[in-house]
Amino acid sequence: MTLNFPQTVRLTQQVKAGGCASKLPAGSLRQVLSALPAQSDPDLLVGFETSDDAGIYRIGPGQALVQTVDFFTPLVDDPFTFGQIAATNALSDIYAMGGRPLTALAVVCFPQDADLEILERIMRGGLSKMTEAKCTVVGGHSVRDAEMKFGYAVTGLIDPAGVYTNTGAVSGDTLILTKPIGTGVITTALKQGKSEPAWVERAVRSMTTLNSTASALATACRGVHAITDITGFGLMGHGRELALGSRVALEIEAVRVPLIEGALDAVRLGAIPGGLLANREFAECLVQDFPESRVPDDLRALLYDPQTSGGLLISVASEDAAALLAALHSATVPAVAIGRVSGPFVAGAGAPAIILR
Ligand code: CO
Ligand code: CO
Repeated sequence: MTLNFPQTVRLTQQVKAGGCASKLPAGSLRQVLSALPAQSDPDLLVGFETSDDAGIYRIGPGQALVQTVDFFTPLVDDPFTFGQIAATNALSDIYAMGGRPLTALAVVCFPQDADLEILERIMRGGLSKMTEAKCTVVGGHSVRDAEMKFGYAVTGLIDPAGVYTNTGAVSGDTLILTKPIGTGVITTALKQGKSEPAWVERAVRSMTTLNSTASALATACRGVHAITDITGFGLMGHGRELALGSRVALEIEAVRVPLIEGALDAVRLGAIPGGLLANREFAECLVQDFPESRVPDDLRALLYDPQTSGGLLISVASEDAAALLAALHSATVPAVAIGRVSGPFVAGAGAPAIILR
């Protein structure tokens, strides 16, 4: 396939699935990872067997590396914006664990005959966000590929005593989400030519907002027990990991979940990413409705929408939730309390990990 890009090229038309929707489903990935032999390195503090956000490796007393990699296909048409989203998204797992990003390596897949100016603009966009995050791009690697992809491997520093994972949520905690959801359905609507400019503008603003402020405020709050970021597996997929990892059940009030303007419209227009269906298939068996709850179908679908560069899901002691929310709001983080940790998760016997009301 030869791809020649005129100035007006729409990046989203060059790929089959955009952004985090281009990833492998959680179920397939789990199957492969669980088949691999265990490693026995005492300095590996968080490895891939715990489905946490990033790996953590101790390099000395009180100091560890926190490492992650994330790259994907274009989900918006403008190259600079795509680069910004890819960088913001790649940094997110560092912030989710409470780390501070230090260096990044660019990961580039690019068609052989495509216009190199597009790649330059993608990398300029990425660099602008890395600079904002005070993360230095030290190099990268590129391969020829019919479908372009871009992202980063990011290395940060973290105090092993101050690591936040998805295993610490405690019964009674309040659940706070720091960004609205809907980037998957809106960018799918964009690709299908069904989106309104305002929807895409809101989604882009959200996807290019670093989780740095939310992370700094959450990690400064003593009552915060667990943090994860909402990305490709959607709110319900990452909520499921938090529930299983912490052996608790979550109660989520569907109508309180913040939505990006246009997200419900996109669902009603049938802009459903394949990843949404895969997430639903993977997670829905552990989700139950509260007896009296009436969650509308379009809203229910959105809860499984694969997010690109989504917000943090924070589990915080209920007595500290109001203060944390106030601090987030005064820093212009659009955080919302969406539910609580209702009690212990009882494995088996059809018990739910997430209860919707
Ligand atoms: Co993550
Ligand atoms: Co990730």
